[in-house]
Amino acid sequence: MKLAIAAETVAGERRVAVVPDVAKRLVSAGWSVSVQSGAGVEAAFTDAAYAAAGADVAADAASCLADAMAVVRVQPPSAEEAALVPEGALVLSFLQPAASVDALRVLSASGCSVFSFDLLPRISRAQSMDALSSQATVSGYRAALTAATRLGRFFPMLMTAAGTVPPARVLVMGVGVAGLQAIATCRRLGAVVRAYDVRAAAKEEAESLGATFVDLGVSAEGIGGYARELTPEELAAQQRALVDEVTKSDAVVTTAAVPGRRAPVLVTRGMVEAMGTGTVVVDMAADSGGNCEVTERGKDVVLEGTTVVGMANPASGMPTHASVLYARNVLNIFALLSSEGAVAPDWDDEIVAGTCVLREGRPAGASTAGLLGSAP
Ligand code: NAI
Repeated sequence: MKLAIAAETVAGERRVAVVPDVAKRLVSAGWSVSVQSGAGVEAAFTDAAYAAAGADVAADAASCLADAMAVVRVQPPSAEEAALVPEGALVLSFLQPAASVDALRVLSASGCSVFSFDLLPRISRAQSMDALSSQATVSGYRAALTAATRLGRFFPMLMTAAGTVPPARVLVMGVGVAGLQAIATCRRLGAVVRAYDVRAAAKEEAESLGATFVDLGVSAEGIGGYARELTPEELAAQQRALVDEVTKSDAVVTTAAVPGRRAPVLVTRGMVEAMGTGTVVVDMAADSGGNCEVTERGKDVVLEGTTVVGMANPASGMPTHASVLYARNVLNIFALLSSEGAVAPDWDDEIVAGTCVLREGRPAGASTAGLLGSAP
């Protein structure tokens, strides 16, 4: 059966869902793999590398997708791209169902089975398939490096012939997968790191990487290991308590998120104004509204000498390794979705059920049914 990887079309997306090494393994597993010409080029994977891995290189999206029984992407398809997906095919990507309703309607009408990495249960067995985590690792690393390169100061303490330089003080807010990688990267570069989160478990994790945990007494454990959204009163109290922490930092890296909600505003305009000239805020949550009141997605905003970087699609900025890790996640979840090169989801599996958005065209759960206005 044919598995297709058409080129990503969302502006700024440089990743590719399957890299040549994984294409080779899919071919060995019995798939006939088709890659649109140029699909991997931004991530440094040439058509020749895919061909050497045993994939067919298709001239355009339509010929790549024709007759495919499985379609793998990074970003959700547009409604037009969904219309090119053959009837009854399996589609796997970050789908963000609430933002992909038009495409979902098309895929539902054509009886497709759709799976979204956004919905993957965060259980131990799913770790090797967890594209949210693999891409957050890339994003956190890049956020830390962005802070280090935008700051006009060293991260490490340096004792030089010209005198001693103190280490940079970095505050990381949001200590999930991305935040932990940001802490680790800042520490490797020698910065003094403080870290803040609303989940109690984050304290031990941050400390194990050498950060000092900032405990403001706000606890907001949600379900599935995620944080819940704070009430307006809690958020205001948190912002007041954070003023000191933010204003004594040279660089602030923010990664706080609540699934399905706008990112919480942790850094206010007033805090940025009080930070002092030459300081930096790197907002990794810009795609979901931003953790800083000043953030503009994809832009640098300079306010009172502080640069606020609104990172857009941060994982895409390091496309080679982001794609390598994503492709391994794809390969691993395919073990549950297929058998010997044919689509065969194990519908009773917790991971398959949790990740499924449409099963043979029908909404897999109440939330998709609500989005499509139909019965599950
Ligand atoms: P995320 O991307 O949803 O959020 C990032 C961080 O922001 C979280 O740590 C969250 O607590 C924090 N946050 C939310 N609101 C905040 C606020 N108002 N102030 C400060 N911080 C705030 O989280 P991510 O990285 O996806 O991880 C979520 C959970 O899933 C974690 O508990 C993580 O350990 C767990 N996990 C489990 C896995 C598994 O067992 N397979 C794999 C990956 C993550």
